[in-house]
Amino acid sequence: MVTLKKHWLYYLRNKIEKLIDDREVKDVNEEERIIGAESSEEDETIELSLRPQLLAQYIGQDKVKSEMKIYIKAAKQRDEALDHVLLYGPPGLGKTTLAFVIANEMGVHLKSTSGPAIEKAGDLVALLSELNPGDVLFIDEIHRLAKPVEEVLYSAMEDFYIDIVVGEGQTTHAVHVPLPPFTLIGATTRAGQLSAPLRDRFGIIEHMQYYSVEDLEKIIQRSSVVFNTKIDPEAAIELARRSRGTPRVANRLLKRVRDFAEVKGEEAISLATTKHSLHLLEVDDEGLDQTDRKLLRMMIENYGGGPVGIKTIAANVGEDTDTIEEVYEPYLLQKGFITRTPRGRSVTQKAYLQLGYPPKDEK
Ligand code: ADE
Repeated sequence: MVTLKKHWLYYLRNKIEKLIDDREVKDVNEEERIIGAESSEEDETIELSLRPQLLAQYIGQDKVKSEMKIYIKAAKQRDEALDHVLLYGPPGLGKTTLAFVIANEMGVHLKSTSGPAIEKAGDLVALLSELNPGDVLFIDEIHRLAKPVEEVLYSAMEDFYIDIVVGEGQTTHAVHVPLPPFTLIGATTRAGQLSAPLRDRFGIIEHMQYYSVEDLEKIIQRSSVVFNTKIDPEAAIELARRSRGTPRVANRLLKRVRDFAEVKGEEAISLATTKHSLHLLEVDDEGLDQTDRKLLRMMIENYGGGPVGIKTIAANVGEDTDTIEEVYEPYLLQKGFITRTPRGRSVTQKAYLQLGYPPKDEK
């Protein structure tokens, strides 16, 4: 149960009355939003303008899309809120974008927040009480929710109510607050860090995968239209190959390559300029950046290729373990540059060759 002070009760009562009044649906304005700041302001602007609105415009993630299409259609046919959705996978794959697309396809409003931004149970109660029937509450980095906040979510997700305790001392009493049926969309890079009670309350769990070069190429072509710039097809393929399977990286690199092409006076971004600028940006032909290479080199030179524990890796490259585990490791694992063993991470033969080392001794 949540214990709330009097001003919260007052606030809630007002909000609930508003709901019952069934007044005109009002979109949340900027001040009311609590938005976590994982990506930079520049990224937010880019992503908003690049964000597809419909599933049909959303490139890649075919399995996720085809499943979501059915669930959305069924929920709409039954005139019900969509079941709660958990989207998990590495950062930059479009989980937030997909949440907006889902809300749009359902024809409902979306309120966006993030796990660390909801500090107290009362913050969550305030967000929940502002939802209209069918609305989506999107919580990014849901694995970082505080435990008392998470506990409020259980009854809200399962039976659409919250129990709050109001007042202090002898005036304390419990209030049962019904909520409108809503959809929680949670996004996480760390599904394993979600507690079982929370994970089990999601009816729909979707794993976002790294994008293929073909899909990234389409995203780059689409983005270049949004950026009002032209790009040669072979340049788009090259960029796609070096974007770590990640649209956010592809869009970032496209912006930088466009700068080089414009300064050179090119009418369309060429393959030569793409290669040259990616070389200057220190992104190699497999999409590895400075930190990837620093990490691999350190493992090779200081630890004979491993196995090395994650904390040792993080300390040596000057990143925190979460960043290594969420950002760097998944791509290096997927591309076969490292392997994971119970004793730690080891560098593969492929990484030795990629970084120009002689083949490692097979023990
Ligand atoms: N921009 C970023 N991700 C995208 C995607 N999956 N489809 C279309 N545009 C995007």
